[in-house]
Amino acid sequence: MSIVITFGTYDLFHIGHHNILNRAKNYGDKLVVGISTDALNYKKKQKYPVYCESERKTIVSSIKYVDEVFLEESLEQKREYIIKYKADILIMGNDWEGKFDELNDICKVIYLPRTENISTTKIKQDIKNL
Ligand code: CTP
Repeated sequence: MSIVITFGTYDLFHIGHHNILNRAKNYGDKLVVGISTDALNYKKKQKYPVYCESERKTIVSSIKYVDEVFLEESLEQKREYIIKYKADILIMGNDWEGKFDELNDICKVIYLPRTENISTTKIKQDIKNL
């Protein structure tokens, strides 16, 4: 059985999130998703997500092609998470192209193209402009 792992915030769950998770699942038998914690988001962007980590985790775990979900506490722990969840493949959006190539020694690293013209940031901006 091959295991795929991927990571993200998945705030205001949208079609781009659906597309990458759906495509990621096609690369293996089991899909594990690391949801970045509220604290990690704050550290990265000095902003909290709209939906808190437990809500984002509940939403992502309810998706039929997602098999397991955990909270990602730190960006630097990707190697540990890959080992812990016995992942064979790491999938990232191509906004991260090349950034995780050093993990190729323990799993296959694949970058998938992002869905065009949508992001959580854009949704927040569009709502502001209504
Ligand atoms: N993603 C995607 N296509 C999009 C938006 C996101 O494929 N249009 C992917 C990202 O590449 C990542 C995952 O979805 O692998 C989670 O991304 P996340 O950062 O949570 O979503 P964004 O909408 O990009 O959020 P933000 O605008 O806050 O960066």
